[in-house]
Amino acid sequence: MGSNVQLRAFEPEDSKELHRWMNDADAIRNTGHSPVSYEEACSHVEKKKASGDIVMAIELDNSQLAGWVFLQKLEYEHGRASIGILLAPEYRGQGIAPQAMSHMIDIGFKQLRLNKIYLTTRGFNEQAYRAYTKLGFVVEGTLRKHCFVDGQYYDTYMMGLLAEEWLQG
Ligand SMILES: CC(C)(COP(=O)(O)OP(=O)(O)OC[C@H]1O[C@@H](n2cnc3c(N)ncnc32)[C@H](O)[C@@H]1OP(=O)(O)O)[C@@H](O)C(=O)NCCC(=O)NCCS
Repeated sequence: MGSNVQLRAFEPEDSKELHRWMNDADAIRNTGHSPVSYEEACSHVEKKKASGDIVMAIELDNSQLAGWVFLQKLEYEHGRASIGILLAPEYRGQGIAPQAMSHMIDIGFKQLRLNKIYLTTRGFNEQAYRAYTKLGFVVEGTLRKHCFVDGQYYDTYMMGLLAEEWLQG
């Protein structure tokens, strides 16, 4: 289990690493985006920030950059936002995502006064599903045969977490 996982502002120079993580084969398979150039990775970050997304770098004890986590689609009138995460390949499978997301969920519920944080994940992404379940996200709906990957259709899960569940949990 990774220890002392912290969030800090995502700096422009972090996009170089983001470019590498986004082009990892598992990341492409799990998120569904196409391979991206360095310029596209930079402009992806800029667009997210410009549209009001909360974008944070995940940093470990030793100041190593381990990934990024963000809140997007912020809709304050409904008190909701969607959460996303991507770790560097070498930091996956070490329990880092639940810790990093937990910090971001705290920001969402305890600072931004959100009422709900939600996400979608592909049905075959068992690692992500387990990480999200551990945090208290529950499946609210199944989008049947929603994505086509490697010649096969897979379900996508809509998962959600309510402030009342997080704050009393
Ligand atoms: C998915 C991701 C966010 C998960 O974060 P993580 O820190 O690697 O997750 P964890 O190490 O906490 O593992 C989560 C659970 O999956 C289990 N797990 C690890 N590898 C697994 C595998 N190949 N298959 C199934 N379960 C697996 C872990 O044991 C853990 O369960 P446990 O706590 O009950 O033991 C991260 O691996 C990642 O960035 N992957 C690439 C991009 C991606 O898939 N993003 C999410 C899109 S929805």
